[in-house]
Amino acid sequence: KIPIWLDCDPGHDDAIAILLGCFHPAFNLLGVSTCFGNAPPKNTDYNARSLLTAMGKDQAIPVYKGAQRPWKREPHYAPDIHGISGLDGTLLLPKPTFEARTDKTYIEAIEEAILTNVGEISFVSTGALTSLATLLKYKPHLKKYIKYISIMGGGLHGLGNCNPNLSAEFNVWIDPDAANAVFQDPDVKDRCILVPLNLTHKAIATCEVQKTIFNEDHDTNLRKLFFELFQFFAHAYKDMQGFESGPPVHDPVALMPLLDFYGWDPSSVVGFHYKRMDISCIDDFLNENSGKIIIEKEYPGDGNLGTMVGLNLNIQYFWDQVFAALNKADKM
Ligand code: BDR
Ligand code: CA
Repeated sequence: KIPIWLDCDPGHDDAIAILLGCFHPAFNLLGVSTCFGNAPPKNTDYNARSLLTAMGKDQAIPVYKGAQRPWKREPHYAPDIHGISGLDGTLLLPKPTFEARTDKTYIEAIEEAILTNVGEISFVSTGALTSLATLLKYKPHLKKYIKYISIMGGGLHGLGNCNPNLSAEFNVWIDPDAANAVFQDPDVKDRCILVPLNLTHKAIATCEVQKTIFNEDHDTNLRKLFFELFQFFAHAYKDMQGFESGPPVHDPVALMPLLDFYGWDPSSVVGFHYKRMDISCIDDFLNENSGKIIIEKEYPGDGNLGTMVGLNLNIQYFWDQVFAALNKADKM
């Protein structure tokens, strides 16, 4: 199994990343840290624990509070897309049956997870890059023990969903300083995978996808919960960003490249295509293009230098993984 740590800000699409982490047979989800992002950190912590409770994983996965605010800029949240709570749209979310752990900090918890899975563990980031950048800053000796860092974030060629020019992606925009600390870290950048909007905008939860999630023959509480979350997300994306055929479900896509790279999928059906490049982002938050990704250098061929920036993958395979995880969760 692929040992992973997930830092997230649930978040409708983060919820699916948690589902895959918990129930996809390839992954061993060692722990979750919750970052500010879609909502204030108090909410993302609550949401992660509520989701794990709904999935019957309340005793299984430790949750720690991650980064509480950006390194330098003021916090920004996304109530227009995720609602005030960060996970609006359903009354089926249970009150969490457990608390976030306080025995250590999230940095210490991730350190322990890394040191017990040296060279094997991957870090998955589906919110601001602040928790990750803080870990790398304070525990630089751990960098060499992390196999891959897979990040949902950024957009190539000016594709974005926030800042005045819509040229930045949310996870990067809300803490561009932390994002740059990761993108420009010579010790990790070549093991970083970036799953940008250009790719996640292909992972649309169409009506057909939503019907597969919840229908007459598949009508468990958990399915209904996800269905209601998707409906809310679909309305928000339609109203705010003009997505007519369904919302893009960004975050769980960041788990797909790992199936390929760890050899879980020997025939490479996941079809992850990427280009290696060095990237940065505009970190001056007074600039109207703040958070926009800049391509500093492109590397030809399949070398091992540069961040692996995702261009494409097999979207049907991706949804099949989500459906399989849901089937497994149903049996809990
Ligand atoms: C990213 O921003 C958040 O709203 C989503 O959860 C996702 O991580 C997409 O830009
Ligand atoms: Ca997210």
